[in-house]
Amino acid sequence: MNGFEINKIVAAIIFTVLVVFGIEKITDLVFNVEKPSEAAYVVEAPTIKNVTSASSSAGVVDIKAFLALGTLEHGQKVFKKCSACHVVAKGGKNKIGPVLYGVLGKKSASIKDYKYSKALVAHGKVWSFAEMNSYLIKPQAHIKGTKMAFAGLKSEKDRASVILYMNSFSDNPLSSP
Ligand code: HEC
Repeated sequence: MNGFEINKIVAAIIFTVLVVFGIEKITDLVFNVEKPSEAAYVVEAPTIKNVTSASSSAGVVDIKAFLALGTLEHGQKVFKKCSACHVVAKGGKNKIGPVLYGVLGKKSASIKDYKYSKALVAHGKVWSFAEMNSYLIKPQAHIKGTKMAFAGLKSEKDRASVILYMNSFSDNPLSSP
């Protein structure tokens, strides 16, 4: 074996190593699929009932008890999560999502100059306290095909608060039951 041949063997080894690592890198790039932040199948753990919960085991919500969990101050904080896409102030403009001034008590998908998903248009319900609560728990679960890309608010207090907060931005706020 002369020096030239050894050089060739070394070059071949280096080449192979580069190719193997290269392929690994490329597959990483190609198959590096972003993991969804939530599992597609969530195994629901039994929720521990406590006195501050307004939902009965049958899933029926006592709206009065539910709203009593919320405060306007907390709602203002929670709304920060919405404000990337929504304005709630009077005279506000549509952003990624429609302006939410006076949304409670109005029919869903009723802002004229906003292009809603077909799913929300077809939904056709009035935004009552209960309807809004169901939507905000997990929008895509309540209205399949809604383009509101928001995971939802798990906490009843957060939902009750943000609903009260939105209801305070209205010419005709819904009266509490
Ligand atoms: C990532 C952007 C985004 C975030 C964050 C977001 N939304 Fe939305 N929202 C949308 C979009 C887009 C729509 C339109 C949905 C459709 O057409 O299906 C929408 C629709 C709505 C509607 C229906 C309005 C109507 O006119 O019928 C309500 C109510 C609503 N959002 C409330 C909220 C609240 C409350 C929060 C915060 C807790 C929130 N959204 C967070 C994007 C967002």
